[in-house]
Amino acid sequence: MLSVESLQMNLSSYSSILGRRMVKCEWNLKFSVSPWLFSSKKSTTSIATFASSSELNGASISVAEAESSSSISLCRDSPISGSMEQVMVEYIFGRKKATEVAHYVWKHVVQKGDAVVDATCGNGYDTLALLKLVADKTQRGRVYGMDVQKIALESTSSLLDQFASPNEKELVELFVMSHSQMEDIVPNDVAVRLVAFNLGYLPGGDKKIITRSETTVLALEAAKRILTPGGLISIVTYVGHPGGREEFEKIEEFASRLPVEGWNCCKLHTLNRPLAPMLIFLFKR
Ligand SMILES: C[S@@+](CC[C@H](N)C(=O)[O-])C[C@H]1O[C@@H](n2cnc3c(N)ncnc32)[C@H](O)[C@@H]1O
Repeated sequence: MLSVESLQMNLSSYSSILGRRMVKCEWNLKFSVSPWLFSSKKSTTSIATFASSSELNGASISVAEAESSSSISLCRDSPISGSMEQVMVEYIFGRKKATEVAHYVWKHVVQKGDAVVDATCGNGYDTLALLKLVADKTQRGRVYGMDVQKIALESTSSLLDQFASPNEKELVELFVMSHSQMEDIVPNDVAVRLVAFNLGYLPGGDKKIITRSETTVLALEAAKRILTPGGLISIVTYVGHPGGREEFEKIEEFASRLPVEGWNCCKLHTLNRPLAPMLIFLFKR
């Protein structure tokens, strides 16, 4: 039997959005990865190599299967359909994955025209889900996506190719960089509604290239600074690989310390599957 534990509600005041550094991304080495990047001037999604990342080499070997979002049913309109109630019940019955629950929660926070960050693009399922939430005719929405692996962003770009329109793709900017530097690519005047982390390694990729607790905490600090009130930091984290449990504990520590007046922090996980992914939501009041 599956049971769901929901815990740790912390509220407190988080004061101001701290000073942020804005570095223009044009200086980065840009490269295109999929046909639509060449075929239409309108399809301007680009991938920029941003700074250097020592994490490319800082690896540990992962032994547990990361939960891939690849079973999400994809369509051109929105990969997220149905109600929150429905998805929670399905999750409790073991028929929905943590990543799918996360997508439904996003739907309750993100609005058309919002700016959001995908801090770990991987194969692009989260990026696509976010894009469908922010995209509309006004072309105001933005998805800032990043990953330390170029191959992950190529995969993301190719998924967008298949399931997003050229106009929608224009709203996505992809960067080969560590999420700890996210403040460098999100302009100072942009209010970010959601920062999504899906930690661990690239499903189907090199399991030695993995998120690491020190950088994850730095990225969470950065996310905390750029997030607008009413925004959400969404984290899917895995404990089955070396370093995974430590990363989860650091995230818990980080979340538990957030002042209760300014933040509501909760965790959702399956109790009798000890290696099941953990869902953590940090809501900024
Ligand atoms: C579980 S996958 C993400 C899955 C993805 N969101 C999707 O929908 O397919 C984790 C990703 O994090 C990336 N990653 C590892 N360290 C990172 C870092 N410091 N900054 C950004 N991405 C990182 C990995 O390369 C990998 O592609």
